Amino acid sequence: MKSYLRYRMSHDLNEIAEVPILSPPFSWVPWHENWIVPLSDIMMKSFADTIDAKIFPNFITRSGCQKIITYLLERKQIIQQSTWLIFHRQEGCAFIQSVLENQTGMIQNLGVTPNFRRNGLAKAMLLRSLWVFRIMNLARAELEVSAENSAALDLYERLGFQITGTTFRTPVKDDSLLCQN
Ligand SMILES: CC(C)(COP(=O)(O)OP(=O)(O)OC[C@H]1O[C@@H](n2cnc3c(N)ncnc32)[C@H](O)[C@@H]1OP(=O)(O)O)[C@@H](O)C(=O)NCCC(=O)NCCS
Repeated sequence: MKSYLRYRMSHDLNEIAEVPILSPPFSWVPWHENWIVPLSDIMMKSFADTIDAKIFPNFITRSGCQKIITYLLERKQIIQQSTWLIFHRQEGCAFIQSVLENQTGMIQNLGVTPNFRRNGLAKAMLLRSLWVFRIMNLARAELEVSAENSAALDLYERLGFQITGTTFRTPVKDDSLLCQN
């Protein structure tokens, strides 16, 4: 079975650019557990055709995405202030989820639906999360990304993340490992 190279990346939270202002009709929507359904919809649209969906097939369906979200809510400590949805008018178009692990802010999932990419949404969400981690006095931010995901890699490197390690992932067959970290 093919395995996929993934990079672990880290940011020391020392130099963080300003968060760009989102202009209407884009708006920030803070995380609330009532948002599981809209979030699963944004997640599926953002990830369904990506390399990550080959590794974590839960990303392909709304119900699979709901399982990922529920898993995170039950097993991990969500950082509320750095978990956001972005709406364009009434349409959910982007999201970021962060969790706390050992004084580290883990960017667990980040996605923008195809029609809304290259508008600076991912950059704005990531920078906002990095500032929250710094204000919380966390030691660093970390994430994992597929080596073939050049768009995400470029984004992370431009914002100051550095590769700190590598790992190989084989596609997950069942729900035993639901999400990325
Ligand atoms: C990766 C992803 C989140 C980027 O979202 P986005 O909102 O389009 O990114 P932004 O507009 O904020 O881009 C910021 C910078 O990232 C880099 N970037 C983003 N998309 C890129 C692409 N397709 N190719 C190369 N660089 C890219 C660029 O440096 C860009 O700056 P620029 O537009 O000034 O050149 C989006 O493509 C996505 O959701 N992909 C599928 C899900 C995914 O892979 N999530 C990450 C999992 S680790």
